[in-house]
Amino acid sequence: MTTLIRSIAVGAALFAAGAVMLGRAQAGSDEYFPPVSDPLTRQECGSCHMAFPAGLLPARSWQKMMGELDNHFGEDASVDAATAKQITTYLVAHAADTARGDMRRWLRGVSASAAPQRITELPKWVREHREVSPGDWTRKEVASKANCVACHVDAERGYFEDD
Ligand code: HEC
Ligand code: HEC
Repeated sequence: MTTLIRSIAVGAALFAAGAVMLGRAQAGSDEYFPPVSDPLTRQECGSCHMAFPAGLLPARSWQKMMGELDNHFGEDASVDAATAKQITTYLVAHAADTARGDMRRWLRGVSASAAPQRITELPKWVREHREVSPGDWTRKEVASKANCVACHVDAERGYFEDD
């Protein structure tokens, strides 16, 4: 399964080889998002999908999401108040628009008043994936755009280069 998925990403990457090389040279740290370092957040937010790095969304997005966990993309992901508080503190402190996250370039095109809930709807995310062919998203092994690990084999370690 891993091999097949790798070949999907590699195929797409080869197609865009020129753009990828250029992108690397210019993108700097765009492809590394520090993985979640807080054990509680890793546990609670990594049980249904990978624990998404805090640097993939701005603080206001995490605040909104953490206030609506009882209806989290149609699922009940709620936790007790103390847990929610600790997770929110962690995510906000490491968000894309904080000194620690320092991923502001990742938020290009996102209005300051918007609190996007999907990483996969950020203009930068959409841009980085424009070379992926529509059929790849619907493959059984991928199933969802949010399934980063299907294509980015080192996503759990924070690496999102086209692997
Ligand atoms: C009960 C299961 C469950 C738990 C627990 C859970 N999530 Fe989710 N999450 C989902 C589902 C389902 C989706 C939608 C996935 C999809 O569209 O493929 C989702 C999507 C997301 C997305 C958007 C991904 C995208 O499309 O860009 C983010 C961000 C996210 N979750 C963060 C969190 C955080 C933070 C926590 C911990 C507080 C958490 N999740 C806990 C089920 C869960
Ligand atoms: C269907 C496979 C697939 C899925 C699922 C996927 N990606 Fe990607 N991603 C790619 C490919 C292929 C590229 C390289 C595209 C290019 O360079 O033209 C890429 C590029 C990226 C880049 C830019 C890397 C760089 O070198 O600058 C980031 C960041 C990224 N993806 C994050 C994510 C995140 C976060 C998720 C999950 C929310 C995700 N991707 C889901 C295939 C995927």
